[in-house]
Amino acid sequence: MSGAAQVALLPGDGIGPEVIASAVEVCEALCPGEYEFEPQIFGGASIDANGVAMTDETLAACRAADAVLLGAVGGPKWDSTDPSAPRPEQGLLGLRKGLGLYANLRPVKAIEALVDASPLREERISGTDLLVVRELTGGIYFGEKKRTDTMASDLCEYSVLEVERIARVAFSAARSKVSSIDKANVLETSRLWREVVTRVHAEEFPDVELEHVLVDNAAMQLVSTPTQFDVILAENLFGDILSDEAAMITGSIGMLPSASIGNPDGPGLFEPVHGSAPDIAGQGLANPLATILSLAMMMRHGFGREQQASAVESAVAAALACGLRTADLGGDASTEQATAAVLAELA
Ligand code: IPM
Ligand code: MG
Repeated sequence: MSGAAQVALLPGDGIGPEVIASAVEVCEALCPGEYEFEPQIFGGASIDANGVAMTDETLAACRAADAVLLGAVGGPKWDSTDPSAPRPEQGLLGLRKGLGLYANLRPVKAIEALVDASPLREERISGTDLLVVRELTGGIYFGEKKRTDTMASDLCEYSVLEVERIARVAFSAARSKVSSIDKANVLETSRLWREVVTRVHAEEFPDVELEHVLVDNAAMQLVSTPTQFDVILAENLFGDILSDEAAMITGSIGMLPSASIGNPDGPGLFEPVHGSAPDIAGQGLANPLATILSLAMMMRHGFGREQQASAVESAVAAALACGLRTADLGGDASTEQATAAVLAELA
């Protein structure tokens, strides 16, 4: 790559612009001039400006970039049950699909300094270090939708190829074990999922341990003994739900970063797992750490710059160890103070 890396910046809605500004500040302090950020209107903001959550131009700009860094989308202003009304989330789903990003990585670590911020007991969560590998471009999110006055349906479909490729991501990321999540006692897609994961395991990754866990049981195991998990492999909807649940191990959903990858010929997408938090938007209260940690994932997975990524992650951990707590973690630090605390550790 010659010159500065080009990053498409999608602040989005609610607290999105606030947490994105914070991540950009951290990036420019750590490696000035190495990344160039080009902002794009996205989500609800784009519905207001253009009538759609993502224009073709925005998608094209993201495709042409080396990476995409996103804040959050959505808000009460655009919430509607009218199937024909544009929704901010359509932008996000269209972007993931449009960039071919089928693999969503959501690492969940119990940070020692934060064990008291979690609603779960310390002895249960201490030592948790797991990765949710969520299939991101298939399943019920993208199946045909129908709506009449008296019924509605969402189709859940998976092909063998879609399951094979996400299974490979999970097995490659595993240090010891993959827990593959399904509902094979009820769903046909889950039976296919289980069959394909079992075959990919036997043929390509026999040294990694594999277990199959029904999703309802997994939800329970995740709060009772989260330390048993290494990699949690899940289809789109199950992965969405389990990753929010797993966030509480870290104390707040404001802590969880994510990377969406899978297309070797295009950019990855890096975004916090949390939403746009309209209730605290514009007040400077948002926790920027999930977005700062997503920046670190961008440096690692998007550019192979492991040292930069570790520097950002260590600065976040050190700031927390020094007592940094935003409101979601039971403290009163503002977004600006949280950013300053991370910058101080970087310096
Ligand atoms: C997430 C979010 C999105 C999803 C929403 C905003 C569409 O919850 O990234 O987890 O369901 O994928
Ligand atoms: Mg979610």
